[in-house]
Amino acid sequence: MKSGGKEVLKLEHATKQFGGLTAVDDVTFTIREGEIFGLIGPNGAGKTTIFNLINGVYALSGGKILFDGKTIAEGAAEGRKALQLKPFQIAQMGITRTFQNIRLFKNLSVYDNVLIACHRSANYSLFEPLLRLKGTRFSKQEKALKHKAEDLLDLMGLTFYRDVISVNLPYGLQRKLEIARALALDPKLLLLDEPAAGMNPEETDSLMQMIRSIRDKFDLTVLIIEHHMDLIMGVCDRIHVLNFGKSLAEGTPSQVQSSPAVIEAYLGAQDGCVKEGER
Ligand SMILES: Nc1ncnc2c1ncn2[C@@H]1O[C@H](COP(=O)(O)OP(=O)(O)OP(=O)(O)O)[C@@H](O)[C@H]1O
Ligand SMILES: [Mg+2]
Repeated sequence: MKSGGKEVLKLEHATKQFGGLTAVDDVTFTIREGEIFGLIGPNGAGKTTIFNLINGVYALSGGKILFDGKTIAEGAAEGRKALQLKPFQIAQMGITRTFQNIRLFKNLSVYDNVLIACHRSANYSLFEPLLRLKGTRFSKQEKALKHKAEDLLDLMGLTFYRDVISVNLPYGLQRKLEIARALALDPKLLLLDEPAAGMNPEETDSLMQMIRSIRDKFDLTVLIIEHHMDLIMGVCDRIHVLNFGKSLAEGTPSQVQSSPAVIEAYLGAQDGCVKEGER
C-alpha cells in the first residue's frame, strides 16, 4: 500500500433500513488509494448491503458516501433532499464490482464475456459497429479491445479456457472471469464480494497473489468481502469488522485478529458463519 495515499472512498455514518430492519447502522470508514481493504462479519452483518450502497443499487437511509472527494450518495435529512447517483454513473466514475452470486453471460465463451465488458469501456457508440463505419478509429479501437480482452484473460489465468462456454467453467474460474470483466471497465476502485467462495485452498492462494498483482498493475484500490480468513488476513492492509450492521472493529489483520470483541462475535464462531459449500 502507498502510505498516506489520498482518500478514495469514505462512508460517513452510512445507514440503510429495510422496513424495520437496520441492515447497515451508522457505519464510518475511509479507504485510501492503493489499499486492499477487507470488510468482514458474520452472515447477515450488512457487507453486501454496503456494496449495494456504494454502487448505487440501494439508496442510503442516512449518512453519506464520498468517492474521490465527491459525494455519490447522501441520505435525506431535515431541509435536505437525498442525493443518489445511478449505478451507471458510479461505474463511469470508476467503481466496479463482482457479485456474491456470479453474474456472467452464461452461454457465451470466456473470451466473449470479457470482450463485451471491454466494449462497455470503449468511447464509441454501440451504433458505430452496427453502421459499419469504415473510420480507422473504430477498427483501431476494435483491435485494441481484443488485445485488452486477451491480456485480461492472461492475467487471470484464463487463456487456456478462452473458448469454453462460461457456464461450463469450474466455479472458481467463473469467479476469476467475473474479476476479469470488472477490470475491463478500468476501475479505480474494485469491489469484490466473496471472490474465493467455492474455491479450494490452492485456488484461494492463487487468487490472493492475483489480487495483489492486479492492485499493483492497475494502480487500484480494492475493497474485498470474504469469509475465508486466510485470504482476508493474508491480503488486506486493513480490515473493518461488522456485526449486525454495526462497526465492531477496524485495524490491521493482526489488530483485528487479537481484538476480543471480534474473537467473540466473529472469529470464534467462524465455522458456524461460513456458508455450506463455500469451503
Ligand atoms: N433488499 C433487501 N430487503 C430486505 N432486507 C434485506 C435486503 N437486502 C439485505 N437485507 C437484509 O439485510 C441484512 C444484511 O444483509 P447482507 O446481504 O448485506 O449481509 P452480508 O453481510 O452480505 O451476509 P452474507 O455473509 O450472508 O453474504 C440481512 O438481514 C438481510 O436479510
Ligand atoms: Mg453478502
